[in-house]
Amino acid sequence: MSGDSNPLKPLSFYKQNSFVIKLLILFLLFGLTIHLFSSNSIHYSSPAFESHTSSPQTDKGSDSTKLFRDEEKPKCDLFKGEWIPNQSGPVYNNSSCPFIEHHQNCMTNGRPDSGYLYWRWKPLDCNLAKFNPERFLDLMRNKSFAFIGDSISRNHVQSFLCILSQVELAKEIYHDEEYKSKTWVFPKHNFTVAVIWSPFLVKAEIFEDNDGFSTSETQLHLDKLDEKWTSQYNNFDYAIIGGGKWFLKTAIYFENNTILGCHYCHGEKNLTDLGFDYAYRKALELVLNFVINSNHKTQVLLRSVTPDHFENGEWHNGGTCNRRVPFKDGMVNITDIDRILHEVELQEFDKAIGVALEKEVWLKLLDTTRLSLLRPDGHPGPYRQSHPFAKDKNAKVQYDCLHWCLPGPIDSWNDLVMEILMND
Ligand SMILES: *[C@@H]1O[C@H](CO)[C@@H](O)[C@H](O)[C@H]1NC(C)=O
Ligand SMILES: *[C@@H]1O[C@H](CO)[C@@H](O)[C@H](O)[C@H]1NC(C)=O
Ligand SMILES: *[C@@H]1O[C@H](CO)[C@@H](O)[C@H](O)[C@H]1NC(C)=O
Ligand SMILES: *[C@@H]1O[C@H](CO)[C@@H](O)[C@H](O)[C@H]1NC(C)=O
Ligand SMILES: *[C@@H]1O[C@H](CO)[C@@H](O)[C@H](O)[C@H]1NC(C)=O
Ligand SMILES: *[C@@H]1O[C@H](CO)[C@@H](O)[C@H](O)[C@H]1NC(C)=O
Ligand SMILES: *[C@@H]1O[C@H](CO)[C@@H](O)[C@H](O)[C@H]1NC(C)=O
Ligand SMILES: *[C@@H]1O[C@H](CO)[C@@H](O)[C@H](O)[C@H]1NC(C)=O
Repeated sequence: MSGDSNPLKPLSFYKQNSFVIKLLILFLLFGLTIHLFSSNSIHYSSPAFESHTSSPQTDKGSDSTKLFRDEEKPKCDLFKGEWIPNQSGPVYNNSSCPFIEHHQNCMTNGRPDSGYLYWRWKPLDCNLAKFNPERFLDLMRNKSFAFIGDSISRNHVQSFLCILSQVELAKEIYHDEEYKSKTWVFPKHNFTVAVIWSPFLVKAEIFEDNDGFSTSETQLHLDKLDEKWTSQYNNFDYAIIGGGKWFLKTAIYFENNTILGCHYCHGEKNLTDLGFDYAYRKALELVLNFVINSNHKTQVLLRSVTPDHFENGEWHNGGTCNRRVPFKDGMVNITDIDRILHEVELQEFDKAIGVALEKEVWLKLLDTTRLSLLRPDGHPGPYRQSHPFAKDKNAKVQYDCLHWCLPGPIDSWNDLVMEILMND
């Protein structure tokens, strides 16, 4: 697959794209609220969302027939399909789930429409069963499950907890100082769920407060993993690891404690801009090598990047997302930046999967990028705040067109997780 995909744009594309750079500088100057931000809004030609199947490139060893069983039966690509209307709706809501964080609690915050709740993801060649929380909890008895990454991982874990808590209420047993990493337990099932805040997955010194204001460039160590998750890795039976958008930020890149270059650091520093894709590729390579070489056989899903849906601007300059229905195939093009992040993911995954199979390491791709791209209607938009238009219906409010309402389209990611884990 990687062989067929478009070559990445040369780095000079970014250097020359001073408009984007100015936008990003503006963003940093204004230090706006959110932890993640989006790409430029140039819609670039992209027929190219080929679906992805992980086919091993190595010869099949005779003792690995079991691992290859899947290859022999006709395969349904779960990530290729469309959103179809479905009246059954979400299994939880703002009253029945206590884990929804304020900024994604669209119902409580007064989002007036509810049409976005009545769609189901339909893979082209099969049906995706609805997440079955009873069965899932049963299979997870005595097990431990981690979500590792940025605020999208937090968004995802909250959906996961909400669905499962309709059967047994999860109990929080740990949080860090900033409430970014947390652990819960489902006592009756002795099932532990953790979310670990590690937005770069590699070692990073971040000089940014909770409102996204940076006092200095992030320093990224592209040859060292973030111990916050690696030190706990052996505790987990399952892990969903994801990254992406944080790599777009201004950063200085280190390897072997030596400055190697940077990203968006033009002007004051005389450093080579290596491009965000350079850093993301290095980071994913390191993460996947760690997974493949770990003695502890954690089952790992690599979750792909989440595209945003800002229109007419970005986080900081009035970007909005007012669509109320999903896109049909062909009605939307992924932005250049999201496409590149996604291509890096597919390429690094393809590189890793052969070795993973050889070593009998359970590694799969959770490729939610394309199905998420089709859901511009699922974001909080202005309803990241409580009743934003209560006082003034023309109030200027900041939109969130990146994270997902809960309940919302991200619940489908768990249907996919269940399908992938159970089908094994
Ligand atoms: C997507 O990109 C293609 C190729 O550039 C273009 O023909 C098409 O109009 C674009 N579609 C949208 C919805 O922007
Ligand atoms: C939330 O769900 C509960 C039961 O699942 C239901 O009784 C209630 O009406 C729902 N509330 C809203 C606001 O949808
Ligand atoms: C849930 O949302 C509804 C509006 O959809 C609102 O009336 C209700 O107060 C909310 N419940 C909670 C517990 O926030
Ligand atoms: C709606 O979704 C549910 C759960 O996946 C499924 O059982 C049902 O058949 C769907 N209904 C329609 C009309 O597709
Ligand atoms: C869970 O652990 C308990 C205590 O070690 C054990 O008795 C039980 O059989 C285990 N259950 C499963 C499904 O592994
Ligand atoms: C819970 O699961 C762990 C393994 O993850 C096991 O060591 C422990 O004994 C279990 N506890 C109970 C009460 O079943
Ligand atoms: C890392 O740096 C040390 C000292 O600066 C050097 O001796 C070593 O060869 C370097 N290692 C790599 C892999 O570049
Ligand atoms: C920047 O780096 C180039 C090449 O490494 C060097 O020729 C130039 O003198 C440097 N400029 C400054 C201001 O350090």
